[in-house]
Amino acid sequence: MKHSHHSIVWLTLVGVSLGASCRLEPEGVPFGVDKTTAAITPGTHAPFVKVAPAVDTDPSPNVVAVELVARPYLWTIGGTAVMGYAYNGQIPGPTLTAEVGNTVRVTLYNQLPDPTTVHWHGVNVPISMDGVPWKMPAVSPGESFVYEFVVKQAGTFWYHPHFDTGKQVDLGLYGALVVNSKEQPKPDHDHVVVLDTWGEVDGTSAFPPLGELWGILMEDMPAEHTADHGVDLRTLKWTVNGVVHPELKVAAGETMRLRFINASNNGYLELNGPEIRHIGGDQGLLAALNTPETIVLGPGDRADVEVLVGKDPIVISNYSYSMYGGRTSGDNMALLTIVPEGDGKKPDGLPWGFSGKKPQEDPLFTDLFYVLTGSNEGGLWMINGEVFPEISISKVAKGSRPIVEIRNLSTTEHPFHTHGMAFEVLSRNGTPPAYETIEDTINIRIRESVRLRLMPDEVGEWMVHCHILPHAHGGMMTVLEVVE
Ligand code: C2O
Ligand code: CU
Repeated sequence: MKHSHHSIVWLTLVGVSLGASCRLEPEGVPFGVDKTTAAITPGTHAPFVKVAPAVDTDPSPNVVAVELVARPYLWTIGGTAVMGYAYNGQIPGPTLTAEVGNTVRVTLYNQLPDPTTVHWHGVNVPISMDGVPWKMPAVSPGESFVYEFVVKQAGTFWYHPHFDTGKQVDLGLYGALVVNSKEQPKPDHDHVVVLDTWGEVDGTSAFPPLGELWGILMEDMPAEHTADHGVDLRTLKWTVNGVVHPELKVAAGETMRLRFINASNNGYLELNGPEIRHIGGDQGLLAALNTPETIVLGPGDRADVEVLVGKDPIVISNYSYSMYGGRTSGDNMALLTIVPEGDGKKPDGLPWGFSGKKPQEDPLFTDLFYVLTGSNEGGLWMINGEVFPEISISKVAKGSRPIVEIRNLSTTEHPFHTHGMAFEVLSRNGTPPAYETIEDTINIRIRESVRLRLMPDEVGEWMVHCHILPHAHGGMMTVLEVVE
């Protein structure tokens, strides 16, 4: 109560001071709704938070027009106020939903004390819309930028800044972009499940450094909020849409599609439950239903799971999995409990229409090698011995299908991510996957060799990097240029 009162006061002050000085106040965006207040109390079963959708301000069915306002945000963890950054006053940011073929137009208002951008992770956008300040400037504080692109692929994507990425993502700037296809069945419930860990940047606090704007905001803050907040965020467990171990009540007999997104800077997940029905990966539906024992999700990775609710509760848990080589201890912590209500019978799986396609055959030549090296000693992480931005740029032709081999000779696993293009997985240590597997983020284990078939269909200079954000910042990032 006490804290929610303070946050309302504080957010109102933010609204007044920013609205008056920047004249950038957009229409139609709800502000100051502290959805996460008191939500994070480890050990309790708070209700599952359905991430609020973005408001589509364009009446055309072919256009999704949305405003995203990035600004400092006060929220509450275990009863203590913590400052973060948020889109539209919510963590995770609003879920954008579109249909295949829609134009997505997002106006970003930067009301942060820092420059920022939005990157559309996994979506094939034109290079000018990719949100990478490599050849284009970032959006300065007080400025806005319109991102516009057509979504061609159904699937679960996410958005996050690509400027000072580690800090801005850790502070709470991320959200989901769901692209639906009319050809897929609609389950009774369809939820994004954004998983995150906290305090990954400086270890003990999510406080951003005091920029000029931040300084102004601080003057209006109650003293207790400006003091060291005393929460070691590293001790917080994973949050599920901002809540530790929530509970989701669903009528027995109903079907659900859960879209898991790992938004952590460096935390791995190994999801497990009574029965996993893995239906979708980074780039939409899998080629066949997969029922693995666990699903490993590195930072940036996504997995869609079908849940068929019968009379028994379903607990989705997470084995402690580390980048230093996988499952390190027996700990299996509950992430999300699904509690059935009523006595409906467990339904059958939905007719997803899997393609059943087998993988392409590996042509056994290699166009590009990426050798991953580095270790925590010295903190340098490299691709082909180079530390970003001191890199050489490889070129591939638009429409070609180059074969890439990645070899991980470093001391940790790495979620390898390509901008601007997806890829098909040809093999891992020589073994092809059972079915066609299209991804944009793939975990490469220690000593593993992975062969991929890239699908570059947009020209531009595209980032290729490890999605463990301290590794990307430590140099494990390069550029692949796609030319006509
Ligand atoms: Cu999720 Cu370079 O991005
Ligand atoms: Cu890495």
